[in-house]
Amino acid sequence: MFMLVGCGLGRQASPPNMMQQVNLGMIGGGTVGSGVYHALSKNRQLMESRLGIRLNWVGVAVKEFDEPRPYPIPRSLMTTDWTQVVKDPRVNIVIELVGGTTIAKTMVLTALSLGKPVITANKALLSAHGEELFAAAQKYGANLYYEASVCGGIPIIKALREGFVGNRITHLYGIVNGTCNYILSRMQHEGAEFDDVLREAQRQGYAEADPSLDIDGHDARHKIGILASLAHGFWVRPEDIHVEGIRQVTQADIRFAAQLGYTIKLLGIIKTVSGGGKSAVSGARIQVAVHPTLVPNRHVLASVNDVFNAVFVRGDVVGDTLFYGRGAGKDATASAVLSDIADAALEIKHGTRNRIPPFVPHANGSKVVPMDQTISRYYLRLSVVDRPGVLARISSILGEANIGIMSVIQPEAHEGESVPLILMIHDAPNAAMKKALAQIGRLKVVKAPPVMFRVETFD
Ligand code: HSE
Repeated sequence: MFMLVGCGLGRQASPPNMMQQVNLGMIGGGTVGSGVYHALSKNRQLMESRLGIRLNWVGVAVKEFDEPRPYPIPRSLMTTDWTQVVKDPRVNIVIELVGGTTIAKTMVLTALSLGKPVITANKALLSAHGEELFAAAQKYGANLYYEASVCGGIPIIKALREGFVGNRITHLYGIVNGTCNYILSRMQHEGAEFDDVLREAQRQGYAEADPSLDIDGHDARHKIGILASLAHGFWVRPEDIHVEGIRQVTQADIRFAAQLGYTIKLLGIIKTVSGGGKSAVSGARIQVAVHPTLVPNRHVLASVNDVFNAVFVRGDVVGDTLFYGRGAGKDATASAVLSDIADAALEIKHGTRNRIPPFVPHANGSKVVPMDQTISRYYLRLSVVDRPGVLARISSILGEANIGIMSVIQPEAHEGESVPLILMIHDAPNAAMKKALAQIGRLKVVKAPPVMFRVETFD
């Protein structure tokens, strides 16, 4: 016989030698949901021994009983009414795996309002409504866990929340979208063009039929926003994050970057620009952006290939650290959900939700710096008429804007009437660079819109 705990926090202690039981309810029984059910079945004993808690399924809300799922879920657990799961007084922990930002929000808020800890993998939901959801969690005295929302199986949320609790996170660089990394890796290693690799990624099921969420950087924006919020203690709004996707990256850019010693990656970047002095965490100014970036080949992130994700974190105490793994897929995501189940179950067992809460707003006055105010190095690819004086006109526009050129490549090969001209640009303010580029783009000798990517030095 096992003891059931109520919906509150560990109201009753188990007698010695009797393992406490925690009851789970899940909404979403598709790919990820069935992955979680399967993973817990596989490693239940291991988890229960580690936690000293019996983990018991009470219900799983599904869209349809017979929807295709990679692993079976017992019919006896299923319902098509999510409220039955959330409101069931036996359910101690609610796991939300339905996705989207409307009904999922209602589900999460309903569960929190009942004082039940909630686990979600829903990055879009957190990105859009994180501030409100964490405020609700605080109000109702329940935690909201989200390890699976960022980088699948990589325990980056746990690392930032617990492992680095004694650090200021000065820099974080993430390859957080597997689809983009797969496309860029294949373009680099096979000389393939963007459109061909994208079609292949769709055939293999990596990219969605509408791939814009991945390749236009929105998925990465959701994840980087969550990491920035956690690392810096205030909720970073998606609209404050500068985003560029990878549609602009051509085979020519990959080749020129390689010639210069770089690999092009879609990076999510979080940097402390200033503030957040020694005695306070408030008032910091941070840069948060997602864009294609030239990464020096000697840097470890240049070697992260295919669908793998990696997050490079620099703390002021720990120094440089690296997290690598599968950022998506049913099993990697299930691993993250199991970790949250463990935390939520321990919170119930020990009657405390304040070990290190999932998100604590604490940075008054901190803010995201507008991209125009940031400084970076740049790679510039122009398509110009091959005529004396062209380089002089371009360099005079840059010179007048106080922007310095580090190096220039002009290959001899022509592309019709024009030739590519590649310039590597010293550190310059984004606003000045944008203005100069607009001027350059208007020159008659420039035959296509200039292509500009940022170069990261990891200093
Ligand atoms: N589509 C995402 C990726 C996985 O390609 O990394 C889910 O976040």
